[in-house]
Amino acid sequence: MSKDKVYIFDTTLRDGEQVPGCKLDTKQKLVIAERLDTLGVDIIEAGFPISSPGDFNSVKEIAKVVKNATVCGLTRSVKKDIEVAAEALKKAKKPRIHTGIGTSDSHIQYKFNSTREKIMERAVEAVKYAKSFVEDVEFYAEDAGRTDNEYLARICEEVIKAGATVLNIPDTTGYCLPEEYGAKMKYLRENVKGIDKAILSCHCHNDLGLATANSIAGVIHGARQIECTINGIGERAGNTSLEEVVMILRQHPYLNLDTGINSKLLFSTSQMVSEKMGMPVQPNKAIVGSNAFAHSSGIHQDGVIKKRETYEIIDPNDVGVDHSSIVLTARSGRAALAYRAKKIGYELTKVQLDAVYEQFLLFADRKKEILDEDIHEIVESADVNIESLA
Ligand code: KIV
Ligand code: ZN
Repeated sequence: MSKDKVYIFDTTLRDGEQVPGCKLDTKQKLVIAERLDTLGVDIIEAGFPISSPGDFNSVKEIAKVVKNATVCGLTRSVKKDIEVAAEALKKAKKPRIHTGIGTSDSHIQYKFNSTREKIMERAVEAVKYAKSFVEDVEFYAEDAGRTDNEYLARICEEVIKAGATVLNIPDTTGYCLPEEYGAKMKYLRENVKGIDKAILSCHCHNDLGLATANSIAGVIHGARQIECTINGIGERAGNTSLEEVVMILRQHPYLNLDTGINSKLLFSTSQMVSEKMGMPVQPNKAIVGSNAFAHSSGIHQDGVIKKRETYEIIDPNDVGVDHSSIVLTARSGRAALAYRAKKIGYELTKVQLDAVYEQFLLFADRKKEILDEDIHEIVESADVNIESLA
């Protein structure tokens, strides 16, 4: 059975770039945009053109160079924003305007001092206006995570009538539980007239560490686009991480969902974005962290050396990492020491290994990690006759 496609909407250059200290210039953004295109993302949100002349220029230049992906620009439900975005996207092969407005009672009352009906009118007007410039118009209902479902369904229905092709349901504050976010998607699928004319999109923030789980719950319940960033960077605790959702869908084939991402480029893309944005990747980050395929406890190492799959559910090659690593620490066992020693030329008998292991533990209690050069020293200091194969 062929799998349903989940579109990957990358917002590294817009929501991701909103991180303090991660500002990129146009040249850096162009390099990242071209890499995202090669990676296979379906939509690149290139920026918020009205926000600054620099952002306008970046969106304009990205629109010119991107070959395959749709290029998207963000706007508020404001005519001028939409005109400026349309201008910036003029040269895009596949342009999309992403317009919207806050729909939760909190946004309506405190941000806009308005009413549900007036907000609905603004949403419809914005979509109609964007539609006069481009065919592909995505509508976002900001703070949809905390928006009343019945009202959200009515807004969705009206913006579809106005021509919206994609409905973005952001959990702007990262508040929802996966069940709740999934149920919201299901409710919209079942209660919005004309829903088949539009694609439902997940846009989740990570304030409670649930952005990835919520996005997956969203697609399980009918959404077919995920908005995400490389390394999960973004406002506050960040956005849904692209590499996580891509690999979750790949590792769970029974969901019958897949993306068009070339997963072998995930690790190098993560490194590139981290370096350009000056945002280090936490070592224990799923998929792309430096420890994602590193094993340091004796029990795990013994298993991985015998059969990688005992403690790894992803083949590191699938995400562009050369190999799993066996890290030597005071928690490592004989199997790991023998494995690493062999790699640098020492074939140890059982008796030799026992002696070397004793020395190893003394070293390891003093050092956080035992490196190859330490192994040479340990072997030499152990009082056994060892023939180096090196
Ligand atoms: O989090 C959010 O609601 C957003 C919208 C502007 C799409 O980023
Ligand atoms: Zn966002």
